[in-house]
Amino acid sequence: MKLFVLKEKDINEKVANEIVSLVNEKPSCVLGLATGSTPLGVYKALIQKYANNEVSFKNVHTYNLDEYVGLSLNDKQSYHYYMKKVLFDHIDIDLNNTHVPNGVDVDKSLKGYDEEIKNAGGIDLQILGIGSNGHIAFNEPGTSFSSLTHIVNLNKSTIEDNSRFFTSIDEVPKQAITMGISSIMNAKKIILIALGEHKAEAIKRLFQDSIREDFPASILKTHPNVEIYCDALAAKYLKQEVK
Ligand code: PGA
Repeated sequence: MKLFVLKEKDINEKVANEIVSLVNEKPSCVLGLATGSTPLGVYKALIQKYANNEVSFKNVHTYNLDEYVGLSLNDKQSYHYYMKKVLFDHIDIDLNNTHVPNGVDVDKSLKGYDEEIKNAGGIDLQILGIGSNGHIAFNEPGTSFSSLTHIVNLNKSTIEDNSRFFTSIDEVPKQAITMGISSIMNAKKIILIALGEHKAEAIKRLFQDSIREDFPASILKTHPNVEIYCDALAAKYLKQEVK
């Protein structure tokens, strides 16, 4: 894993530039996309670069990591809605080429999502956040490293972390459909971004813990092409030699 400790705005710019370079090199590339607060700055930077005519997403294919179970595609809390609002509505991507697991017709995604990704040529670049408990996508501690797309019961800490997007904690869905750990590890390259002090403990564990299923992100150490981007707060417990 290659670590970069940078200011948030430089992380957004650098990651957006990596995506733009990839798309310009391979216009029909496959991007793995994430939701939550972490990638918002990268998506804003991509929209800006598209507006400046630096890139076209016309032939790009995207696969999102996860979706809440039970929320309709138009629900304002759904990740379908989030992706349209924060990225897809502002660039020239063909919506038919965008994919988010289906939280209503879950059987469809459970059966076909990994197969579809494989048939599209596999994910060239996967963007990832990290949960305070070390989850990647919605793969909570204890998830098998060999998992593919599956349904999960969300942990209390994840429900609490995500309740800030809902009017009350009771509205946070208790289940999600998520790409599995193996689905994520199949990506050719992975970029994980961690911003803020609330991610510091997870980032410390990512570098210090052994590889074990009760800390899902630890598997990333076995992937040949991973970049970790942290701001100074998220990197605050890392020893100088790691930085
Ligand atoms: P966040 O979530 O980007 O909203 O912090 C990241 C995650 O839980 O994977």
